[in-house]
Amino acid sequence: MQFLESVCQHTVGRFFTVESPSGCCEFLSGSLLHEVFHATMIFLIGLIVIVIGTTIAVVRSEKPIKHIFAEAKFEMIYNYIGSRSIFEDFIMRGRNKTKLEKKSGKVVLITGGTRGIGTEVIKMLMQCDMHVVMGCRSVESGEKVLKEIREDVKLGELKIFQLDISSLKSVRNFADKITSVYTQIDCLVNNAGIMYVPYAESEEGYESQFATNYLGHFLLTHLLLGLVKKAGRDGENARVVNVVSCAYLTGDIDFEDINKKNMFIPFEAYSQSKLAQVLFTNYLNETLKEKGNYVQVHSVHPGIVNTDLFDGTYVKTFFWWILPYIFKSPKRGAQSIVHACLSSDLEGKGATYISNCTVKPQIEKALDKELQKKLFDFTKKLVNVENFGT
Ligand SMILES: NC(=O)c1ccc[n+]([C@@H]2O[C@H](COP(=O)([O-])OP(=O)(O)OC[C@H]3O[C@@H](n4cnc5c(N)ncnc54)[C@H](OP(=O)(O)O)[C@@H]3O)[C@@H](O)[C@H]2O)c1
Repeated sequence: MQFLESVCQHTVGRFFTVESPSGCCEFLSGSLLHEVFHATMIFLIGLIVIVIGTTIAVVRSEKPIKHIFAEAKFEMIYNYIGSRSIFEDFIMRGRNKTKLEKKSGKVVLITGGTRGIGTEVIKMLMQCDMHVVMGCRSVESGEKVLKEIREDVKLGELKIFQLDISSLKSVRNFADKITSVYTQIDCLVNNAGIMYVPYAESEEGYESQFATNYLGHFLLTHLLLGLVKKAGRDGENARVVNVVSCAYLTGDIDFEDINKKNMFIPFEAYSQSKLAQVLFTNYLNETLKEKGNYVQVHSVHPGIVNTDLFDGTYVKTFFWWILPYIFKSPKRGAQSIVHACLSSDLEGKGATYISNCTVKPQIEKALDKELQKKLFDFTKKLVNVENFGT
């Protein structure tokens, strides 16, 4: 008993110091018993969160019974996928780091970045002396971020432009400004995103998660691809990085009801938007390669990261106090995205899904070429584009 108590005390004490560098070293040198204990704790906490969360979600719902069951099913699946990713983030934490090399003068454009993972990505890219272009809803928020980053980072540049990625009109205005200022873009990071929001439509009438996470970025990539192509050269491809999510695993593209309005389940719509991004990554990469362009495209799952993205979810509402210990910090979430932007290990390895700075296998659905093409052609019609990227 005494032995068990001392193991618990020791292990839990270490677990909570994992964010500090010295704590981290100490942590990594722990015995196998400690590792198994940590992993089991995370698994059990995940399990408890799944059961309580699903129960709360069902009890709080005021929808028809069929809808409640469908929602509960998705809640279960999402919680399972989320817990699995947390577990994987934990196991892979040693691999979740990338080298920051000087890339002076290279231009990287990122959507979002006023908060969360995007801010950390910008900070790391500026540490590499890059010229970062930020497209965000509020220029004032962008300027605040710049001021904060400047307290730590003296290198690099950050230019801020107004962009509401959910509005196709705003995307076109933004792209016009960018193409009039810049002659090339070395890396485009499609980062901005929303999750789990109630049903709402964008200016052009698309479900808000589909519009923000996928459609706006599809159009932006089309409008800026000329500049991206100009930056790539043999042996040093330019890059497009789509920030996706492990939620794509359970996604399904509903071509008949793309807004999923018939029976709207926020998580289902989020998963659809993220699967769409992964399908887009794979299709675009292959098309560019076939045409001999020096551009590669990646999907990146940043991990389960403690950001405002979870605002309004039961996880954040009821379990906010535990999230810093089981979710990644935004800084750790940014590693895989920066890795996809910069790592020479990934040269020529487009159409890949990256998580914890490691290339991961993709599900069959994401590799389905017919589905990729069907979605690509379908989306071109939605955004009124005939020849993509020209
Ligand atoms: N956090 C996670 O666990 C997790 C897991 C998997 C994938 N991801 C993905 O990672 C990306 C970043 O998420 P995060 O966790 O950093 O979330 P976050 O902290 O909520 O930040 C989201 C960012 O997107 C911007 N944004 C949202 N809607 C926008 C719009 N219409 N136009 C322009 N910018 C908009 C926000 O800007 P405002 O300040 O203007 O709102 C903010 O800068 C998302 O694509 C998300 O799906 C996150």
